[in-house]
Amino acid sequence: MCGIIGYVGKKNAVPILIDGLKKLEYRGYDSSGIAIYNDNSLSIHKSKGKLKNLENKIEGKTLYSNLGIGHTRWATHGEPADVNSHAHTSTRETIAEIHNGIIENYLELKSFLQKNSQCVFKSETDTEIIAHLIDYFYEGNLFDAVYNATQKMEGAYSIGVICKDEPNKLIGVRKDSPLIIGIGENENFIASDIPAILKYTKDVLLIENNQFAEITKDNVKVFDNDKNEIKSKFFKVTWDEECAEKEGFDHFTLKEIFEQPKAVHRTLHHNIKNNEIHFENINITKDELKSFNKIYILGCGTAYNAGLIGKYALKKFAGINAMCEIASEFRYNDPIIDENTLVICISQSGETLDTLQSLRLAKEKRAKILSIVNIVGSSITRESDYIFYTLGGPEIGVASTKIFTCQLMGLYLLSLHFGNLLRRISDDEIKFYINELISIPDKIQKLLDDSEKIKQIASEQFQNESIFYMGRNVDMEIAYESSLKLKEISYINSFAIGAGELKHGTIALVKDETFVISFATQEFLFDKMISNIKEIKARGAYVLTIVKDECKDISDLCDKVLKIPYTLDIFTPILSIIPMQLLAYHISVMRGNDVDKPRNLAKSVTVE
Ligand code: M6R
Repeated sequence: MCGIIGYVGKKNAVPILIDGLKKLEYRGYDSSGIAIYNDNSLSIHKSKGKLKNLENKIEGKTLYSNLGIGHTRWATHGEPADVNSHAHTSTRETIAEIHNGIIENYLELKSFLQKNSQCVFKSETDTEIIAHLIDYFYEGNLFDAVYNATQKMEGAYSIGVICKDEPNKLIGVRKDSPLIIGIGENENFIASDIPAILKYTKDVLLIENNQFAEITKDNVKVFDNDKNEIKSKFFKVTWDEECAEKEGFDHFTLKEIFEQPKAVHRTLHHNIKNNEIHFENINITKDELKSFNKIYILGCGTAYNAGLIGKYALKKFAGINAMCEIASEFRYNDPIIDENTLVICISQSGETLDTLQSLRLAKEKRAKILSIVNIVGSSITRESDYIFYTLGGPEIGVASTKIFTCQLMGLYLLSLHFGNLLRRISDDEIKFYINELISIPDKIQKLLDDSEKIKQIASEQFQNESIFYMGRNVDMEIAYESSLKLKEISYINSFAIGAGELKHGTIALVKDETFVISFATQEFLFDKMISNIKEIKARGAYVLTIVKDECKDISDLCDKVLKIPYTLDIFTPILSIIPMQLLAYHISVMRGNDVDKPRNLAKSVTVE
């Protein structure tokens, strides 16, 4: 959702802002804009639609400035329109500001300003209020004015502010929406995410919630909510700009699908030594683990689907009966939580608001929080007791692919570790399982080497208007994830179902040529799946079945059979999702969709 970039330095801010906004496009947006200080005034340029529209608008204008802010907007209050795009200015055009989040009390603040100032509102946004409010408090010190304004604001916001009368200064504020500071030489930056600044610096300061940054080209000062100057955490980015580039692939999504062998390998090997599991940020003792009488796994979308599979792994390896819940439902469902509860939050971005708020609810009730997150320093990690980092690198495509398989790897390791702590699995057994996990990246590679086969299936099916998925046990959960992947990038109507549930209603939808993808990778459920396949074949369905390499030949029963390399039943999801990601990808391309940025979706969902 909305992307923020800000620059103060010696170079021309304009190309830096535009370039930064391009790197933030993956977050999802419907309009964009910049504000720069130029010739003793603030100059604002904004446009509805793609960034190209903004670029066209400023093309040919000689814009030069050493100070500026830029924004990609994902509309919440007010339709996507030039006037609602950021940056917003105060009526006197002294202040320009960009915002990611929602100001919950903006109507109240609007009537306060209408009564107490001369300001004139131009847009339908909640954001515009911020510029007017800062100007209302402005008495020659931008930092103080921003600080005073935020004391009146309720909701979630990261903001970037510049002022016509202080053209050497950029102010950034973070509250419940992401913001980082990039430290350069004779230049500094603010941004919603690292890719926006990676071209210029790898040195990043992580600011926390309710913190304020006063930034000039040579100096960054960070203050807490009581205006005490504080030392923020410094962080050196370990990946480089190429990681956030397409590197010859047509789309980020495809590149990320193909990065999985490496991403999963990194996530695994970072946490094992001599076939033993060693976590950096999880030091739960046996006694502590035993004291948890409830374990919840929470997430949204793909992260939730990973959690569903983690639930099986925890049961199998550690004998733990965890509950996996959708974060947006969990917190409105009176969850029973106390100090003997462990909450495992899964999130790529670490910023998903529903997951973050569920975490906070659980913390309030004294639960311990273990997070499985990809983005270092994100909000969820900062508020967690234990952290497992998926080491997948930046995931730019809106559809989560490589981070899903890294999350599964994290959940397998965690379950094995808990099982070992509780002595449910011996040291020898754990070595056996780890050896099996070590073989996974090569098996993923093998599936990717066969991607042409999937492209062929896509070419036969891309005009289909509905595709169903079915399976049992972890195969049912991978059916959910496969269906979500297809829906979000192909826009094909799709659902997934437990195969045993079919005849309780859904089978009524099956008719001649209905395309059904079935998963039959669980050895102990193989015969049951065969019965389910026969049921739908008898009603005319066209069935593609995913099986393990060495399973019984079922080619006369199905229209197509796809084989995945052999692995233990519990580990099959990390393999069987690969052809399904490829299928969704190719169908999306064949339908002419914007694969990396599907309609109506944002990479990081920072509103409810
Ligand atoms: O950043 P998170 O993992 O918390 O995001 C959760 C979901 O929004 C995300 O997985 C979403 O479902 C993806 N677009 C799925 O591909």
